[in-house]
Amino acid sequence: MAIRMIREENDEILKKKSRVVEVIDDKIKELVKDMIETAHKNNGVGLAAVQVGVLKRVFIVDLYEEGKEPLVLINAEITQTKGEHEVEEGCLSFPNQFAKLIRPKEITVTYLDINGKREKLKCKGLLAQAICHEIDHLNGEVFIDKIIPGTLEVITEKDRENKLEDRRKQQG
Ligand code: NI
Repeated sequence: MAIRMIREENDEILKKKSRVVEVIDDKIKELVKDMIETAHKNNGVGLAAVQVGVLKRVFIVDLYEEGKEPLVLINAEITQTKGEHEVEEGCLSFPNQFAKLIRPKEITVTYLDINGKREKLKCKGLLAQAICHEIDHLNGEVFIDKIIPGTLEVITEKDRENKLEDRRKQQG
């Protein structure tokens, strides 16, 4: 396992569309392990492969809930959304920037897990938000392009740590 370098805001790769994974081979499995480690190291709740420079439709989400393993979603597609609400969001590729935007309240997503098993998940709240955020990455879209004007907040590293800590507490 290894920590991979996170591509940041002006990196052109973030605007590129990721490709469907045809075979979940050892290379993909290693990528996923590295992505989980890289997200944890940076206190991120999610990370898409493109953010570590790999244009494959793979991402992980971890809300750091006790007893729950990180979710690995391959070739994920949102099949249904319900409602909308205003949320606050950040991204490991835009360190120290947070802003508000509109996301669906509830989503249904289909995907392959790390063993290639087809899964269907209905979820809401932060999990739904994180999945929408990561799927945007797969499509070459970054959150900063869809924020509500005037809501961008640029904070210090220390503030960022506190914010992430608060968010985890909110999740219980
Ligand atoms: Ni992101």
